[in-house]
Amino acid sequence: MTKRCVFVLGLVLAGAAPAAEQTAPAAAAAPAAAAATPVAGGKAEANAGGERLEWEAWRAQNDTSNVASLQQGARNFMNYCVTCHSLKYMRYSRMASDLHISTEQLQQNLMPIEARPSDYITTSLNAKDAVAWFGKEPPDLSLMARARGVDYLYRFLKTFYTEPGNAAASYNLAFETEAKVHATVAMPAVLSDLSGVQTPVYDDKHEFVRFESTPGRMKPAEYDAFVRDTVNFLDYVSEPAQVDRRSIGIWTVLFLLVFTWIAYLLKQEYWKDVH
Ligand code: HEC
Repeated sequence: MTKRCVFVLGLVLAGAAPAAEQTAPAAAAAPAAAAATPVAGGKAEANAGGERLEWEAWRAQNDTSNVASLQQGARNFMNYCVTCHSLKYMRYSRMASDLHISTEQLQQNLMPIEARPSDYITTSLNAKDAVAWFGKEPPDLSLMARARGVDYLYRFLKTFYTEPGNAAASYNLAFETEAKVHATVAMPAVLSDLSGVQTPVYDDKHEFVRFESTPGRMKPAEYDAFVRDTVNFLDYVSEPAQVDRRSIGIWTVLFLLVFTWIAYLLKQEYWKDVH
């Protein structure tokens, strides 16, 4: 009798698992942008005095299970990055389904009119113009988060600056080149209207200390959240399966625990007669 109950219970649980898994991400979408609260960066920005800006210690602290943040990151990407960068391994439709974006929202806000949902996310910038304007083609960003790491992307998007002596060039503290020291980058500071234009302050030995910034459209903490959401989205794009994998993982572990318990009960039942 016990045996049969346990077996039925096992079946019910195994059946319930996938259903519950589907509802989990939807629930996660509810706490809106609140979860994208600024964490890092704030401390560093506060040291307006002579203290050195510890930008190398900044962490993205993004969370790919935060669907609201991923949706915001997708909007940021479509508004500020896709003019130059493609995501050539990601289709609009896959992005919409993973991030719980409706077809109307997708077509009205995130997709060019002429594109179809099954298309890959491409840029309208062609290679020839890119080279003429920027000196090189902007790289595809599909795998950039894996190649460089999310913390690098976060630092990269927060450390664009201009040198007063060479106002036309765009500099970046984090950008990794062979030169390794404050290098120019072919990407213009496309987010400077949000963040403000940063200029560096150096000490007597011409070592970088901190930035001074003109006011941007966003407060520093808002800008940090903007960058974090954008990086979060690129993290998701670089490994779309991670969003599902995590929830499947939790259910797998739960199932194994329940199954162990069932096996134990079964063993008790069998050995009862032997003893
Ligand atoms: C006006 C065109 C343009 C826009 C808009 C633009 N980029 Fe770029 N981006 C470039 C170019 C050009 C490069 C190549 C830089 C180089 O190698 O010097 C680049 C390089 C990059 C890199 C690679 C950095 C590295 O370490 O190699 C990342 C990451 C990046 N962009 C992210 C973004 C994000 C995120 C956005 C949107 C917020 C964005 N870009 C918007 C032109 C652009």
